[in-house]
Amino acid sequence: MEIFTTIAEARNYILKAKSSGRTIGFVPTMGALHAGHLALINRASAENDVSVASIFVNPIQFNNKSDLAKYPRPIDNDIQKLVEIGCDVLFNPDELEMYPEPVFDKYEFGQLDKVLEGKYRPGHFNGVAVVVRKLFEIITPDKAYFGMKDYQQLRIIQTLTSGLRLPVEIVPCPTIREKDGLAMSSRNVRLTQNQRRIAPVIYRILNGIKENAGKMTVNEAEIWAVSKLNKYDEMTVEYLSVVDAETLLPINDWSDSQKCIVCTAVFLGEVRLIDNLMIF
Ligand code: PAJ
Repeated sequence: MEIFTTIAEARNYILKAKSSGRTIGFVPTMGALHAGHLALINRASAENDVSVASIFVNPIQFNNKSDLAKYPRPIDNDIQKLVEIGCDVLFNPDELEMYPEPVFDKYEFGQLDKVLEGKYRPGHFNGVAVVVRKLFEIITPDKAYFGMKDYQQLRIIQTLTSGLRLPVEIVPCPTIREKDGLAMSSRNVRLTQNQRRIAPVIYRILNGIKENAGKMTVNEAEIWAVSKLNKYDEMTVEYLSVVDAETLLPINDWSDSQKCIVCTAVFLGEVRLIDNLMIF
């Protein structure tokens, strides 16, 4: 595997690959790689001539300093995992390489970045948009792979890409879960044994909403789910909302939407987990 830490080296390699007609599949990550990330990279390898992963813990998308400080950075393990699955290129820049100047770029996404995560993490999606656009400019991928686990992020990237007519195909990929249903996340390693034991309840309750759709009103289903989750002393629901899968705006009636999704953020102690489930 080629490992590049500078933009110039990465550009040079990509330029050569493209001029010999090879296609580029790209998976941006913040590292602490797990099977969810690896599924994206395997798909990028299968569908393109060259697979490129990036690892960069992007400081400007963290609105919470301690979350940034605590973000796991097991780079040697990550490199080993990437080599094992046959990833062709790792782009692993440092902060100065990515941000030699302060960043002032502001993107406007209308309601899309004001709801759900956006409401509780102001500035987060602007930071994501800045870094992803920059990474796209460096890697110039034909296809870029994003997990449905971060559904709102996926919608933001789709909107950014179509709004600027960026020449990249965004490929949504299903959420990879542990056997007990817990969505894989780099933050899961921070759960205590007891928190880890009860964490799969989140996915079970999301499934409960899907089963109850039609039997309960949207509002009843949300209230039912939040009260079930909050029964656990260790859990605090930050939000749980059934929304339209395109606009991410709340729906009042199941018939208000062609395609709807339930999204949630739950604190287990200090660890904030997000998950979602497409209802229909
Ligand atoms: P990170 O959290 O490392 O996630 C990188 C990619 O892996 C994202 O597309 C995310 O949705 C996907 N992913 C994470 N867990 C997954 C799971 N359990 N199943 C499937 N896919 C999963 O998301 C980011 O990094 C950053 O915001 C980034 C886009 C790299 C910009 O900094």
